[in-house]
Amino acid sequence: MSARLRVGILTVSDRSWRGERADASGPALERAVAARGWQLRWRETLPDESEMLRQFLRDKADSGEVDVLLTTGGTGFGPRDVTPEATLAVIERQAPGLAEAMRAQSLKITPHAMLSRAVAGIRKKTLIVNLPGSPKAALENLDVIAPALPHAVQLLRDDPASETGHTA
Ligand code: MTE
Repeated sequence: MSARLRVGILTVSDRSWRGERADASGPALERAVAARGWQLRWRETLPDESEMLRQFLRDKADSGEVDVLLTTGGTGFGPRDVTPEATLAVIERQAPGLAEAMRAQSLKITPHAMLSRAVAGIRKKTLIVNLPGSPKAALENLDVIAPALPHAVQLLRDDPASETGHTA
């Protein structure tokens, strides 16, 4: 039996960072993580500032505190939307299947899904996944990848139990 998934949630939003708008997506994701029996290790908010995001993602991945780092926001076409670029700058290996699956499933819900530039990838033993910014979109996208995350984390941890996941 492998250990519980340890999760961190980063809201990326200028307005939430400045206190101009309450962050709805972070708390919504926090509830979704708890409902799945995963362990929330921290939840933070940052502005859409590339260097701050890169530094934060790098530090959190290198600390090994969490298995999965979920970001929410900053994946669209707005001039300040830089979350995918910050993520790509710090990951060592891409995990395109997660973003492909999220967009494919989300397209069944809204054509706007094709406007998400979200990426996913691995730095050390941490999987970083970009989710869109609205609570509805963030939860819908988490729903898509959630079934694959426990096995993803077993593989990242090089857990011998991961072999069983291959036959599941
Ligand atoms: N995916 C799902 N499942 N549901 C949604 O409502 N909204 C889209 C898209 N992905 C959406 C979705 C919209 S409107 C945009 S602009 C992009 O995600 C990027 O969102 P972001 O800029 O808030 O990160």
